[in-house]
Formats: sequence, structure tokens, C-alpha cells
Amino acid sequence: MQKLIIKGKKALSGKISISGSKNATLPILAATILTKNVLVKNIPLVKDIFTMCELLNFIGLKTIINKKKNTIEIKNNEKNIKTFAPYKLVKTMRAGVLVLGSLLTKYGNAKISLPGGCAIGTRPVDLHLFALKKLGAKIKIKDGYILAEAKKGLKGTIINFPSISVGATENALLAATNAKGKTVLKNCAIEPEIKDLIAFLKKKGSIINLKGRTITIIKRKSILSRIIHNVMFDRIELGTYMIAGALAAKNNITIDKINPKIVKNEIKVLSKIGVRIIEKKSSVIIKKTRNLKKIIITTKPYPGFPTDLQAQLMILLTQVNGVSKIKEDIFENRFMHVPELKRMGAQIKIKNRTAIITGPTKLSGAEVMATDLRASVSLVLAGLIANNKTIINRIYHLDRGYEFLEEKLKNCKAEIRRV
Ligand code: EPZ
Repeated sequence: MQKLIIKGKKALSGKISISGSKNATLPILAATILTKNVLVKNIPLVKDIFTMCELLNFIGLKTIINKKKNTIEIKNNEKNIKTFAPYKLVKTMRAGVLVLGSLLTKYGNAKISLPGGCAIGTRPVDLHLFALKKLGAKIKIKDGYILAEAKKGLKGTIINFPSISVGATENALLAATNAKGKTVLKNCAIEPEIKDLIAFLKKKGSIINLKGRTITIIKRKSILSRIIHNVMFDRIELGTYMIAGALAAKNNITIDKINPKIVKNEIKVLSKIGVRIIEKKSSVIIKKTRNLKKIIITTKPYPGFPTDLQAQLMILLTQVNGVSKIKEDIFENRFMHVPELKRMGAQIKIKNRTAIITGPTKLSGAEVMATDLRASVSLVLAGLIANNKTIINRIYHLDRGYEFLEEKLKNCKAEIRRV
């Protein structure tokens, strides 16, 4: 099994270019079931994207990944389509459940494996099913599979989500673009990745309007025979490297290929802590930072502070003066990095859904174990500032979502290698 070895305390400087967003690419790939020929550009070359392509190929589409150009060409001749997503593919990547909305709305039925639990929480899909039922689907759960049927097609309606879910909003959006009439989705997630999906679906011809947390969708016939879409940048990768810069930049670290306006809140939070960030049109510069200040923060759906940056922020908070608190409001079990950080010398206590971090503490290198994607990258950040050597096991989690992690950090003078 591969490991990462990091020799800490290296002063970082240089430039990092941000990759395309994994969480924007995945629903767009699920949407290609509804289209014919698509070229998706700026895709990150990470495991979850390859798994989604494998699922689309299994269903009957043809995906061609160009690793040199970071593109995927999807050809869909709509023949020999299997409206089926097997357990072996969905269990390794929960976003596989996003093909449910597309398959059901286009073919009138779908059999999709339930994704099952996950390290960070139970992550049910009841809200996905709630929305599809409102659109007229008949749904049963049998032998670990979702069996969905809409023989006469789905029908537009008003759906008010009882709570905010990114995936349920995406599945409902996908289903609604092919439903008869108008659908109004209320209390939606409005993450930038959802806006990217809307931009893609508009190219397909759908009329979609987003106002506040309400999305209105009206079906229209496809107007383009080939869609070209450039995926947005990965805002979580950007946040991760901004924190790396805040922790270890000696001179400037420039992070480019981004739009700082999309991460306005993250920049505000980091600036409040004392991180020095200069915003440019399509880049940010992180300056050497001192005298960091404590903070009390809760993770929230966008535009709030993202749960996907909670673990990384915690590393920064081990280095600030005083007692900081992070409440994890999205997932019930997303503090798996804490026991590993404690082994590196961090002073963190967990009380219900709040982590209480006392800083500043000197971290010391240790052998640690990655548990999920963001927990894993937080251990990398900890390794960058720890004394001596940090060895991170189970790094396959990192490969699910961080493109060229070692290369990007090495370009900024970090000492990190994979064995
Ligand atoms: C997306 O997951 C992201 N994944 C996650 O990124 C991210 O952490 C999460 O949104 C929150 O921002 C992708 O985009 C592929 P949710 P998703 O539905 O859609 C509960 C990463 O590290 N819920 O918004 O699965 C759920 O349990 C990952 O890249 C229900 O109760 O998240 C959670 O508590 C991990 N019923 C909350 O809602 C449902 O039917 C938010 O989950 C659905 C969700």
C-alpha cells in the first residue's frame, strides 16, 4: 500500500495552479446521460472521475479521457443503455447515485445501488428519493437497490426540500430537466458546483432560473448536438492550498486559475484569523503570516464555511493563539482526523459536534492514517509544519480528489514523496 512521507518545517514559496472541480465534474458527467455528444474540459485526473466514467461506460455511453488535455469526450448513441448502477461502482463512489435522476427521467426506470454508509456519516439518500417521488416516480428499496419507475415520464411540480442537500438538489435538477412542464425546487443547495451543473444543463437547452435558494426548471428540446463545457476550478483545493500557504509560506505563494469571488467567505474567514491574502482577478497571493487569531466557526451549506475545509482549517487553528472552536454542522462524524492530530501533539477536544482547539502547539511528525479525502489532506498540512518526518498511510483517499498533490507541493519546495 502506498504512503506519503513528508519532511516538515520546509518554508514554502512558489506557484500552484488549481485543477478543475471534482464535485462539479461528477454531476455534469451524470448529466451526459441526457445528451448526445459532450466534451468536458478542465477535468481533474482523480480516481472518482475515473470511477464515474467506468459507471457511464457500464450504462452504455462511451467516455474517452484525454489525460494530456484534461478532457473527457462522451459519446451517447442512446442504444443498448442499461438503466442500472451496480453496487461495486456506487459503493466506491457515492456520487454514482446521481445517475438515478438522469436515467429515470430519460428511460422511465432505474435500478441504482444504495451507496451505503461512509466514514464521515450515514449519508442517507432519502431527500433524493423524496424529490423524485414528488416528480411522480414510484420507488421501492429491494436487496440494497433503489428501484425507481416512471412509466409515463416525470411531471414538473413544486418541491420544497425539508433540509439542504447538494446531491438531492443535483438529482432533482437532472430529473426535472426532462420532466413535463415546470418544476420549482425550493430550499435548494446553491453550491458553485450546482451553478456549474445549471450552466451545463442550459447548454442542453433547459430553461433554468436560480433565485435565492429556489430553482425553476422548464424542459425544452435539446438545441445543441454537441456541448462543450469547461468545468469550474476546485474551490476546496484552493482553500486547502491557501491554508498550506498560511501555515508554511516563507515568501509569497501564488495560487492561480481561480475566481476569488467564489471563495469570498473562505477568504474572509482566513483574513479574520490573520492570514494575509491578496486577491487578483484570477489568482490569490498568500503572504508569510504571523500572529494568528482564534476563531469560532460553524460549517454551513454555501455560502457558509464548507465542511470540506473543516479538517484543513483545524490544522491552521492548532497554530493560532488561544482557544478556537469549529462546529461541524453538516456531517455527524467528520472529526476522524482529530485522534491522528492528537498523536502529532495537537490539543483538541471534541464535545458533541464541536472541536475545541487550543493553540499554538508544536506538531511532531508521526505515522498516521488517512480516513477520508479531506481528513487525509489535513494530515498532509499537519506534516508540512511538523518536526521531523510524517508518514501518511492509506493515501488512496487523497487520490480520489487531489490532482498532482505531491507535484504541486514540491513545486513550492515542500519535501514530500510517495513510497
Ligand atoms: C456533497 O455531498 C459533496 N460531494 C461532499 O464532498 C460535500 O461534503 C457535501 O456535498 C456537503 O457540501 C459531492 O459533491 C460529490 P449533502 P452530498 O447531500 O451531496 C444529509 C468531498 O470531500 N442528507 O449536501 O452527499 C447528509 O447526511 C465530499 O469532496 C440527508 O439527510 O452531501 C448530510 O448530513 C465529501 N438525506 C447533509 O444532508 C439525503 O438524502 C448534507 O449532505 C441527502 C443528504
